[in-house]
Amino acid sequence: MKFDVLTLFPEMFAQAFNYSILKRATENGLISLNLVNPRDFTLDKHKKVDDTPFGGGAGMVLMCQPFIDAYNSLDFDCDYEAVILSPQGEKFNQSIAKELSEREKIIFICGHYEGFDERIKKITKARELSIGDFVLTGGEYPALCMIDAISRLIEGVLGDDTSSVSDSHSDGLLEYPQYTKPREFMGESVPEILLSGNHGEIEKWRRLQQFLTTNKKRPDLFKNFLKTELNKTDKKLLRENKHLF
Ligand SMILES: C[S@@+](CC[C@H](N)C(=O)[O-])C[C@H]1O[C@@H](n2cnc3c(N)ncnc32)[C@H](O)[C@@H]1O
Repeated sequence: MKFDVLTLFPEMFAQAFNYSILKRATENGLISLNLVNPRDFTLDKHKKVDDTPFGGGAGMVLMCQPFIDAYNSLDFDCDYEAVILSPQGEKFNQSIAKELSEREKIIFICGHYEGFDERIKKITKARELSIGDFVLTGGEYPALCMIDAISRLIEGVLGDDTSSVSDSHSDGLLEYPQYTKPREFMGESVPEILLSGNHGEIEKWRRLQQFLTTNKKRPDLFKNFLKTELNKTDKKLLRENKHLF
């Protein structure tokens, strides 16, 4: 998977790619990052990328020319999708991450200041994505969040590919509670079932915990889950435990 990122602050990406999963995935050739700075495409000697808004108002708006020239310098000879980061966009989630992880390349266009001249969105036809209903200073953190979420879904990136399958949101439910050593800490014990060695019962307990946790923390998700086509095992488990909901 290739990630092309149009950003005025490329240095912000170096740290993130120097640690943990993203570092290993880059070293193993599973992902690659290409940073392009629209400032390098300006035509004036001051390298100006923004200007005051037509019609007046606060702040500075990102100009079309440096962004569109930077965008057009990219390689489009592959199965790619362009994403423009914006608090006005469709809200990013795990199923969008999964969809994007199936492409060969994702192009991220990061804004800053007051945001983009509207024509940048129109000309690039990029998909407008947001990471939530709040406003950040720039699109760099949202792009990094998405790159991280997408990378985890690429085969071979996680040590054990099944770990992304059991992650929260992968099947519309939150993950079951996890415990590690010691068995007891400050009077709090690990649930007995997890120490039993009975894998069938552990699976059943974990699935029930997914239902209970999701119902408690995100009733909206649980309601949606119940509307989906449930398999026989889930139906049975829900029936047997209906007094808990
Ligand atoms: C200060 S914001 C501009 C907000 C813009 N004036 C508005 O009200 O829609 C600057 C840039 O940060 C990025 N950004 C801010 N919040 C974001 C969010 N929730 N999701 C994705 N990108 C965001 C976008 O790239 C945006 O162009």
